[in-house]
Amino acid sequence: RTITLIGAPVEDGAGRQGCSMGPKALRIAGLAEALSGLGHTVIDRGDVLPEGNEFALEGLAHNVVEVTGFARALADAGESALADGTAVYLGGDHALSFGSVAAALRHADRVGKKLHVLWLDAHADFNTPQTSTSGNMHGMPAAFFCGEAGFDGMLECPTMPASRYHLVGARSIDPAEVDLLAARGADVNDMAEIDEHGIGAIVRRILKEVEADDALLHVSLDVDFIEPDLAPGVGTTVPGGATVREAHLAMEMVGRCGRLVSLDLVELNPFLDDRGKSARLMVELAASAFGRRIFDRPTQPA
Ligand code: ARG
Ligand code: MN
Ligand code: MN
Ligand code: MN
Repeated sequence: RTITLIGAPVEDGAGRQGCSMGPKALRIAGLAEALSGLGHTVIDRGDVLPEGNEFALEGLAHNVVEVTGFARALADAGESALADGTAVYLGGDHALSFGSVAAALRHADRVGKKLHVLWLDAHADFNTPQTSTSGNMHGMPAAFFCGEAGFDGMLECPTMPASRYHLVGARSIDPAEVDLLAARGADVNDMAEIDEHGIGAIVRRILKEVEADDALLHVSLDVDFIEPDLAPGVGTTVPGGATVREAHLAMEMVGRCGRLVSLDLVELNPFLDDRGKSARLMVELAASAFGRRIFDRPTQPA
């Protein structure tokens, strides 16, 4: 299939700088080569530029103009990429998902299907400018696309019910988010559930729901989903994350389900990484989502 790579060098949604270098690091780590090596047609359309605009939100939200500018540009770039196949967004902080999920929702609407979102993350990113205590907009995209108030006029897109938002890997959720996620019926799966049931059982159940809805799937992979020692290149590390094998299994199952329309690779901060380790792992995980199996893996240098 055709995969369009979309660079999203946004760092204005995070509390520290560095994610703007993420797209370059993912390219250097060989993302395009890994995906074309699996037989896909890969088009790298380069980085998007934010659409300049005057825009404000009520409440606590930093860099609204920059985040909104990227979101609008990404939603448009993503929507046209999805008309031809699959999109992979090279982050950039998690605020890029305002745009990437908007594109997936517009596309799903156009083809008359529902969208489910699999959010692999230590965090829920379900704050609004009214609930956020940090004001960092990378902590807000899921609330936006699930239709919470507080983002009016930011971006044109359909919203989705929170029951189709599946968070896996959670271990750091703000008190206000806990209440909001419960009130909206979001599908929250924390690390304790992964430990108890195994990540395979959790992802299998989610993919069955996607299948039952005959829906499309967007996957958002935050570097901090993974255990910090294994993926140190991220600003918001939380101990007790997924292992390399758990992350691969989730992505391999996504690859086999055949419903993936778009994938975010987010929060990679090359300034904090250890000799490209996290960038390389994100590329490996993306390859698993696009069909690579253990036996396809190149021999690893010692
Ligand atoms: N919940 C915290 C906040 O709202 C942390 C969000 C972290 N998000 C992320 N994409 N790393 O600030
Ligand atoms: Mn996140
Ligand atoms: Mn996170
Ligand atoms: Mn559910």
